[in-house]
Amino acid sequence: MTARVVVVGSANLDLVVTAPALPRPGETVLGGEFTTVPGGKGANQAVAAARAGGEVAFVGAVGGDDFARPQRDNLAAAGVDVTRLRTVPGPSGVALIAVDRHAENLIVVAPGANAALTGLSAEDRAAVAGADVLLCQLEIPLEAVAEAAATARAAGTVAVLNAAPARRLPAELLSTVDLLVVNEGEAEVLAGHPAQPADLLDLVPRVVMTLGARGAAYADRDGLRLDVAAPAVEAVDTTAAGDAFTGALAVAWAEGRPVGEALRWACAAGAVCATRPGASSSLPTRAEIEAAL
Ligand code: RIB
Repeated sequence: MTARVVVVGSANLDLVVTAPALPRPGETVLGGEFTTVPGGKGANQAVAAARAGGEVAFVGAVGGDDFARPQRDNLAAAGVDVTRLRTVPGPSGVALIAVDRHAENLIVVAPGANAALTGLSAEDRAAVAGADVLLCQLEIPLEAVAEAAATARAAGTVAVLNAAPARRLPAELLSTVDLLVVNEGEAEVLAGHPAQPADLLDLVPRVVMTLGARGAAYADRDGLRLDVAAPAVEAVDTTAAGDAFTGALAVAWAEGRPVGEALRWACAAGAVCATRPGASSSLPTRAEIEAAL
């Protein structure tokens, strides 16, 4: 069975510089190589899900500038359906990224065209309703995320929300989410205090917490609690590792795999991604995920 995944989310062009260390506020550091890579949490997760074996459609927006073409081409090259990718006037989304020698990064996003995605068209809603899994993040206006999740809930599509970048969310939106994917920092912002996955179960019925090189933890309202280790790897750039995890998890979930197996698969995808530089450029194929397991 092919997993049908719809991503409603952001697309950015990532402007990436490597540096020996990340700058502190007010500091200038001399960096190394500069690269441009298609990114954005939404587009990355769409590419990740497609490479993991899903049949993926992307609902998003790029600008009318020269940065739009590589983003559109990159999605299409991964096999993602870009019929619902709008071109809007003005600049595309851009992310300024610095990566240090420990594979850590700093990211600032200028939303650009992503800010124009304030709602869904009838065709967008039909795409959500026809999918097994909807995948959203928080780099587009909240109205669009809420509309997508409500559409999914009404249609019986599983709504997965990767609540990144971190922010507080209205209870009404959270009430339409089936599975929340957060890191520790995002969980703390949502809960208002340092939180374990089970601490968020008053907000949503299922929670996955990504723990970087330590793997992931899971809790749901049926009482299931899981801790899954990630394969040990030598990380060079952790950019998009969370996107690799979430895209692969969406595919495994849509395929109906047991939760523990889906989490191990997602952890393997994140681990492989961290061994390579860049965002969409580092997302693994299904064969690479399986080899890592
Ligand atoms: O999750 C990584 C992504 O965050 C980058 O590709 C960047 O565009 C930002 O959206």
